[in-house]
Amino acid sequence: MRILLVIITLIVSLGAAKVVKIDEKFQTSDKCQACHMPIVEEWEKSQHSKSHYENDEYFRASIDYISKKTRKSLSSVKIECATCHNPRISVTGTSESYEIMVALNLDKGSAINKAVNSDSINEGINCVVCHNIDKIHTDRDESVRGMNRVTWMKSGIMAGPYKDANSPYHKTQYRDFMNEDSDKLCFVCHANDKSVKGLVFTNMLSEYKKGKKSCVDCHMGPRVEGAASTLPIDDGKVRKRDVRKHGFEGAHVFSMWKDALDVNLVQKKNNVIIEISNPQPHNIPSGFGARELIIDVTYKDGAKEMKNKRISLTTHYTRRGGKPTIPHAAEKASEDMSIPANGKKVFKLPNVKGAKSIKVELYYRLVNDEVRSILKLKDKIWAKESLITTKEIRLK
Ligand code: HEC
Ligand code: HEC
Ligand code: HEC
Ligand code: HEC
Ligand code: HEC
Repeated sequence: MRILLVIITLIVSLGAAKVVKIDEKFQTSDKCQACHMPIVEEWEKSQHSKSHYENDEYFRASIDYISKKTRKSLSSVKIECATCHNPRISVTGTSESYEIMVALNLDKGSAINKAVNSDSINEGINCVVCHNIDKIHTDRDESVRGMNRVTWMKSGIMAGPYKDANSPYHKTQYRDFMNEDSDKLCFVCHANDKSVKGLVFTNMLSEYKKGKKSCVDCHMGPRVEGAASTLPIDDGKVRKRDVRKHGFEGAHVFSMWKDALDVNLVQKKNNVIIEISNPQPHNIPSGFGARELIIDVTYKDGAKEMKNKRISLTTHYTRRGGKPTIPHAAEKASEDMSIPANGKKVFKLPNVKGAKSIKVELYYRLVNDEVRSILKLKDKIWAKESLITTKEIRLK
């Protein structure tokens, strides 16, 4: 057991990122409100702002589960996940002696516990995560992500999309990853997510089919005329700028699912061919494991429903001995059932005798039945079925 702990803590402390302390003036989003209120309000609704143990039930339950299964302290697991979920945390690893302190219940006042429970990280991925990055090291190994892939600026400088910005509150610096090369910023974290067993269960970077649009075009919306700051800086007037929204709307925003995929139905003799195509440049589902697409098929005779069938497209994860588990604890994953980027998947169903028409409804769900039950998730959001599209054809 001791040896195991030594190995585990050694792995945790390898490749630790350099921490740069953030002055309290810039640590939290309320410090930006006076001059960037609309942006702060949009970001508050985003999933980025919920990326913390206290604020996302699924994240919390996953951390608790990993801690139990790996027999590591809760704080150690939180620090591992912080690499991408809370990258401005002030500690980047734990030591063997810390695990022993936890076992003896002597860790309460430790620097590690203070860092993990600090108010400065409870906003998750906030303004000073993205806007305080100096460099993104795309030359580092592709498994190196989050805080280990970036170098921070000095506290008080904001990296932004404008070459001519000036603010009385903070210094500003232009960065290409805030403008023409912003995919690079998103891929700091949205790539190469792997389990504690080293299984890469999702990788948006490897599946990405870059077209004309960038991540920000779809998840922050188009650039429209507005203002970057509400502070009147041009002769008593607010400066006009082309700006995007900070909602980072994605899978948790149900209206985003409408028409995200297309369904086509064709009858071929005694079969119906269901073709699901994905016009987006990344797979769907993607980004995290155990997401799910549901195909509901209804055979009808006029208005009368004859037969229903449900097909679940999801990936199942197993640990040692083939037992079902969550993505982050998995040794193995079943076949990838996602619809590939700019591609399609085709399913063949036999006709039902006497059926005059067939209707197909396509839904998305954040967490499949298996993982919801393993983690005992309570919030209704995880099981909610968001309608993507429906299609109906007459049968000959
Ligand atoms: C996940 C990364 C991320 C987070 C978190 C984030 N921003 Fe941004 N922000 C961006 C990107 C990318 C742009 C550039 C958008 C573009 O292409 O014009 C941007 C642009 C801006 C701009 C320029 C005007 C505009 O809207 O385009 C301001 C000001 C700004 N952000 C402030 C903030 C504040 C304040 C917060 C916290 C409430 C915040 N940002 C959180 C990524 C982020
Ligand atoms: C006292 C007002 C004020 C406060 C407070 C303030 N800013 Fe700004 N900020 C500005 C002004 C003014 C600009 C320049 C706007 C322009 O040029 O259109 C600006 C520009 C920016 C930009 C764009 C920089 C660029 O080079 O493109 C970012 C990013 C930004 N602020 C982030 C923040 C964050 C994060 C906070 C909170 C920690 C914050 N600001 C607090 C006034 C403020
Ligand atoms: C510092 C790491 C990091 C960076 C940089 C980052 N993200 Fe994220 N993003 C996350 C994490 C972690 C989550 C999930 C948080 C949660 O659900 O608790 C997330 C969630 C999202 C979601 C919501 C997905 C859903 O399932 O609803 C979208 C959309 C998104 N990010 C887009 C972007 C875009 C676009 C960029 C680049 C401008 C970006 N992110 C940059 C880490 C990051
Ligand atoms: C052409 C538009 C488009 C582009 C470009 C795009 N996405 Fe998406 N993305 C979507 C749509 C549509 C969905 C499905 C509905 C939703 O979740 O918003 C989605 C879903 C997501 C999800 C949730 C996935 C899931 O299955 O749970 C994440 C995370 C995400 N995108 C991140 C990104 C990142 C990071 C990039 C850039 C590397 C990117 N997207 C580029 C349109 C786009
Ligand atoms: C390589 C960066 C990275 C690391 C490290 C990481 N995550 Fe994530 N995680 C993400 C991103 C990006 C998303 C958003 C993807 C999406 O929503 O499609 C996410 C989403 C999640 C979600 C889904 C949240 C939701 O609301 O749907 C859970 C749960 C989660 N992560 C758990 C963990 C746990 C537990 C750890 C540590 C053992 C961890 N993550 C480590 C990048 C990371």
